Amino acid sequence: MTDQRFVHVQWSSRLAFVLAASGSAIGLGNIWKFPYLTGEHGGGAFVLVYLLCVAAIGIPIMIAETLLGRRGRQSPINAMRSLAEAAKVSPAWQYAGWLGVISGFLILSYYSVIAGWALAYVFKMNSALFSHITPETAARYFDEFRTDPQIQVIWHTLFMVATVAIVSRGVNGGLEKGTRYLMPALAVMLVVLVLYAVGTEGLGRAVAFLFLPDFSRLSGESVLTAMGQAFFSLGLGMGSIMVYGSYLPSHVSIARSTIVVAAADTAVALFAGLAIFPIVFSNHLEPGMGPGLIFQTLPIAFGAMPGGSFFGALFFVLVFFAALTSSIAMIEPAVAWLTENRGLSREAASAWSGLACWGLGLGTLLSFSSWSDVRLFGRNLFELLDFLTADVMLPIGGFLVAVFAGWVLSRRDTEEELEMADSRAYEAWRFLVRYVAPSGMGIIFLKAMELI
Ligand code: TRP
Repeated sequence: MTDQRFVHVQWSSRLAFVLAASGSAIGLGNIWKFPYLTGEHGGGAFVLVYLLCVAAIGIPIMIAETLLGRRGRQSPINAMRSLAEAAKVSPAWQYAGWLGVISGFLILSYYSVIAGWALAYVFKMNSALFSHITPETAARYFDEFRTDPQIQVIWHTLFMVATVAIVSRGVNGGLEKGTRYLMPALAVMLVVLVLYAVGTEGLGRAVAFLFLPDFSRLSGESVLTAMGQAFFSLGLGMGSIMVYGSYLPSHVSIARSTIVVAAADTAVALFAGLAIFPIVFSNHLEPGMGPGLIFQTLPIAFGAMPGGSFFGALFFVLVFFAALTSSIAMIEPAVAWLTENRGLSREAASAWSGLACWGLGLGTLLSFSSWSDVRLFGRNLFELLDFLTADVMLPIGGFLVAVFAGWVLSRRDTEEELEMADSRAYEAWRFLVRYVAPSGMGIIFLKAMELI
């Protein structure tokens, strides 16, 4: 049934897919968002719910989204159209692809600004700026930096240029080559940082904080946040993994590869926690301080430690690399579509998409300073974009992916595409993707709309 109008490039190996997809999954979500959310939501119980959500909702949807991509063999918009045609359902399903491309633009526009902060902090850490400073001074530095659009625009631009430079080199020459070097580098840096943190006196408290669940600190709100975070961190619901799946050779097992990716993503989130919280606790700092955690809290700690400026800089290089391998995944659905349908060259498609995200990102950038009073539903532009994508558009996207794979495609189609050796594993997937995943996504959405 697969529509082969577009002769598609493919990953050169299973490993190439696993590295690229792990690159997409592992990002600011793991190293910036996961630690600060865990800090805000009280630790272990939040982590436990997060792990359950990865297993029961994240992995089934990841398998489903990859499957749709490989069966559709095109960019998400065209893949959804041709899959809908083959299944004889409404062509309106292609709007699921559109929703994804638009979410990708919106996410990348603010993602790039935060990644730019990380890049700036590489250099700040490496200077003597933070040596033995007080929490107040660190907070002031961060605020001064965040409210200075002229400085930030430089870092935001550099980050988008790096993204476009990789994406424009194509699937094998860009995405694959980039992740082949960046991912191992990231793993090494993370291990070094964990070893460094493990040597500090806060280790015991950090391990207890992360792994001993205290259910009295778990609210309904925390459960939903954990669910949303699992979903964002795996990079689901907007066609990133769908387009990566479309480059997957047909002999590779989707279930096995995606489970490796989900495990890597989860491991990195936990390791990031192990790199950060011992340092936070050793220095008697506050774990629940929100999005500023890695920019405001960590520099104080690194500034007070032997070798701190080196390890601090290393930490922000890690954040930057992780963000870069995610940003290329966010822009790829749009680039694939522009080359397929608009006949643009890969370079032109990447440059135009990058420019659009860059322009949108200026809005986020200004939302911390001159536009901070521009508010909609009580949120500034950055908060609005974060909310609109992570809490509204991605859950809708995830819901549609689960419903399409679980209800629209026939059992035979999915069985054939997944080729799982163990029929019980297939039944478990089918049950989760038909019932559990759509309910989870529905609940996040209803909560976002304040209907529950
Ligand atoms: N998963 C990435 C992170 O944790 C971000 C990301 C990449 C993403 N592709 C995505 C998020 C698609 C949502 C949808 O930072």
